[in-house]
Amino acid sequence: MAGNWKMYKTAQQTASFFEQFIPSVNGFNDCDLVIFPVSVNIPTAIQAAQGTSIRIGGQNLFWANEGAYTGEVSGEMLRAVGATWVLIGHSERRQYFHETNGEVLKKGQAAIAAELTPIICIGERLEEHKAGKTREVLIGQFAGGIAGLTEEQFAKVVIAYEPVWAIGTGQTATPQIASEAHALIRTEAEKRFGKAAEQLRILYGGSVKPDNIEGLMKESEIDGVLVGGASLDPRSFAQIVKAARVNRD
Ligand code: PGA
Repeated sequence: MAGNWKMYKTAQQTASFFEQFIPSVNGFNDCDLVIFPVSVNIPTAIQAAQGTSIRIGGQNLFWANEGAYTGEVSGEMLRAVGATWVLIGHSERRQYFHETNGEVLKKGQAAIAAELTPIICIGERLEEHKAGKTREVLIGQFAGGIAGLTEEQFAKVVIAYEPVWAIGTGQTATPQIASEAHALIRTEAEKRFGKAAEQLRILYGGSVKPDNIEGLMKESEIDGVLVGGASLDPRSFAQIVKAARVNRD
């Protein structure tokens, strides 16, 4: 269960979230629980979450370890402050910062080299969805951004299916639409990586809220969720996180 905070919360707001959130998920160990704060607030989040099962990740990285790349942060640097996860290829990065599948692949490789667990995001845009091109887009993003990993690297990756038309719009994909997309991704993974695809965790993301989480988690193809807006509020994110149990029953 993952919370993507995008460009929200100052350091103080980050600390105050954890003060409220931690007691409500006390003793929770049903699954991995990760929060992705703004990069400058990662140390604050790590300190606030110390002694809990909550892990902290970066929202992006650059593939070189260091160098003259103004404005960028490396996987090694994220790891050095205690981050253990990283988001890669989020649709907002693809849309506003023009990230390509080739860059997504390089970032995935760099994340694994830095011992970070990457959540690699793929998903179709509204016009692609309307034009019935979901399948084609997902296959293309998998081929360009993920298939180039080695089998060993692939075993360390988590994939998030995030249809762009569902992100921040309040329009969630139905459990059935999400489930079909997940099955397609798993089939692509199986063609390339064989049996390892069975272990692959595929998260759904796009307007996940406390009132739709249970329906999503009931689908056996949905292994978890990547939550934006609803992860900013400690109460709603705690409600969402607890629904991880639905998947286990
Ligand atoms: P949302 O964002 O939950 O606000 O739709 C999801 C995401 O972008 O990861």
